[in-house]
Amino acid sequence: MQPLRLILSTNTPDETIEVGRRLGRLLAAGDVVALVGDLGAGKTCLVKGIAQGLDVPESSYVRSPTFVILNTYAGRCDLNHLDLYRIQSPREIEDLGTREVFYGEGVTVIEWADKMEDLLPEDHLRISLDFRNETGRVIALEEIGALPPDRREALRSALAGFAEG
Ligand SMILES: Nc1ncnc2c1ncn2[C@@H]1O[C@H](COP(=O)(O)OP(=O)(O)O)[C@@H](O)[C@H]1O
Ligand SMILES: [Mg+2]
Repeated sequence: MQPLRLILSTNTPDETIEVGRRLGRLLAAGDVVALVGDLGAGKTCLVKGIAQGLDVPESSYVRSPTFVILNTYAGRCDLNHLDLYRIQSPREIEDLGTREVFYGEGVTVIEWADKMEDLLPEDHLRISLDFRNETGRVIALEEIGALPPDRREALRSALAGFAEG
């Protein structure tokens, strides 16, 4: 079976939120989503959509936690939002207790996940965001490890509308 690899493109922040929302609807407790991409690429925007897809109420808004590295929002299941922007060393990441976070009851989404590459669980989704132009973004979604085949197909069809090409 071919691992899932989707190349998507969006032309507005709202489209990126919609990609996140569709993804969020298909996530379940224990899932880990690793986001990589430069500042302003749209990682937080995508997390906002994921929160909507997980039925996190709009009132507990998702923003880039500037000083808080881990935020947990209650939705259909918990959403753990990690933002490692300010992390300097892998040691600081270990201190965050990510093991409990990853193997807990929630969905975990990590901005700047490349800073903890070696600490990520074996199975996760890796999403990279790149600039195409001012408001165009290329979003590559890749399965690392193994997803159940039915989820792989559900993701493929839910995101087909944003597929590149
Ligand atoms: N297609 C797009 N997708 C996501 N963000 C976009 C897009 N086009 C423009 N933007 C803008 O880029 C910025 C992305 O910011 P943010 O999501 O905080 O990025 P990051 O978390 O990766 O640093 C926002 O100001 C947003 O309005
Ligand atoms: Mg951000």
